[in-house]
Amino acid sequence: MEAVERTLLKAVSEGCVENSLEFASKNAAGGFDHKDLCSAIRSLSASGLVVAKEHATQVTVLTEEALGYVSQGSSPEAQVFAAVREAMPSGLTMSQLKDKVGGQVAGVGFKQAMQAKWVSVLKQDKPKPKQGEEEGGGAAAAKKKEPKAEPTILASCESVEDKCLVLLQSVAKGEEVGPKDAQNLKKRKLIAVEKTNFFEVAKGPKFALERKKEATDLTRDLLTNDKYTSVAFKRYNFRAMAPELSGGHLHPLLKVRSQFRKIFIRMGFEEMPTNRFVESSFWNFDALFQPQQHPARDAHDTFFLTKPMFSDSAKWPADYLERVRKVHEEGGYGSLGYGYNWKLEEAQKNILRTHTTAVSSRMLYQVAKKMEREGKFTPCRYFSVDRVFRNESVDRTHLAEFHQCEGLVADKDLNLAHLLGTIKEFFSKIGMRDVKFKPAYNPYTEPSMEIFAFHPGLGEWLEVGNSGIFRPEMLRPMGLPEDVKVIAWGLSLERPTMTLYGVDNIRELFGHKVDLDMIKRNPLCRIGLD
Ligand code: PHE
Repeated sequence: MEAVERTLLKAVSEGCVENSLEFASKNAAGGFDHKDLCSAIRSLSASGLVVAKEHATQVTVLTEEALGYVSQGSSPEAQVFAAVREAMPSGLTMSQLKDKVGGQVAGVGFKQAMQAKWVSVLKQDKPKPKQGEEEGGGAAAAKKKEPKAEPTILASCESVEDKCLVLLQSVAKGEEVGPKDAQNLKKRKLIAVEKTNFFEVAKGPKFALERKKEATDLTRDLLTNDKYTSVAFKRYNFRAMAPELSGGHLHPLLKVRSQFRKIFIRMGFEEMPTNRFVESSFWNFDALFQPQQHPARDAHDTFFLTKPMFSDSAKWPADYLERVRKVHEEGGYGSLGYGYNWKLEEAQKNILRTHTTAVSSRMLYQVAKKMEREGKFTPCRYFSVDRVFRNESVDRTHLAEFHQCEGLVADKDLNLAHLLGTIKEFFSKIGMRDVKFKPAYNPYTEPSMEIFAFHPGLGEWLEVGNSGIFRPEMLRPMGLPEDVKVIAWGLSLERPTMTLYGVDNIRELFGHKVDLDMIKRNPLCRIGLD
């Protein structure tokens, strides 16, 4: 690079360099490459040593195929001629020629050599079909072709002049070739015309034969010895782009989660502890009045643990456990229960929690305990956003592992109107202003309602969540009084994230198919700020 710079500066000192392309080819022997020369010119002109004007032009270059012939030192027609000539006097058949020079060279070269009349073809008479073969034999015999004797290619002269090679060599050197030849070479796809830019270079305001190293920083050394007065400083380039920083990037789910968190907190909700992916069936199902034969408790829907397979029931409050058993078996609090034989072992089975309502059931038990301690009930609002697991087959809208967002409000005498109002408010804050409700069934809520939101992009109502008022069969065994009602709802985090980030296949959002570049480049998430 330095040599390129020095040669250029020397040439400029002797007069203007009009065309960097020509200059590069003139100095090709000195290791000049036009690209290197251009970067030298750009850098020298940035430092003011030269001024450079850029011009556009067209250059003729050799194609890949032509480069091959130049390096072989022979055009295809000359190769064909040489092979045939060598085989004289008998000449070569096309197949023999192909064996000698290769299929491609034989094909193109033969055509050209014929046109140039360097070779000729000796036609042989077609051998007559043997008697009887013409009519007989049916279809199979008709297909069998008579082996045709191949014509022989013969050389028509002693020696030839490889004009094509000479032309290609001239083009390689950057020399002009006549218009007719150029047209012919172009037709044969041996040359191509490319647009390129070149520079016209002249002395700049700070011209010198050698570039002085400019100081980039004011160092202690420069200051103490007053050297700074004599050195040249490199100018700041305020247009230079800073290098791209790499670092951690938040996944869209995490971004949406932190927005949801903010919305809940602004609405006066407290976050519940969700640090328990492994849960007992007890808190995930039994405490929620979900009967032990419920299909959701089947291995088809729930992941069961084998190590450890069971939770220690001694950790659960014995009186509460007993009340749960009783409400399942015989009811109470105005309920008939399910009337089956409740098994402790079933409740002890460890699972990966199937919903964050397991988190809510633990929390509500704590709320009841607190009330017992304090002698009075304090209304509360709780939320959680974390991962849940279901034994589902994965498709574009389902994963076996996803996130749920859940909210609950516990207060005296809450009713359906409170639930509808709270949900409407929450969903409008997350950008879903139109919501509809549809009656549904959950073992732990009555009434229960599915939540639908209108998706303006799709023009459709999509199911976005589930909700209800927790049943007395769930709350009363915990110790909550009859007039304390709990309204609750849950939704997936993935659905709104997919809408917000325009992802339509959930597997592109979460799991091994996620494109890390998408994680790096996905935009900020700001919702619920109005
Ligand atoms: N647990 C329910 C689900 O997984 C959601 C829900 C939460 C429903 C709270 C009612 C009340 O879909």
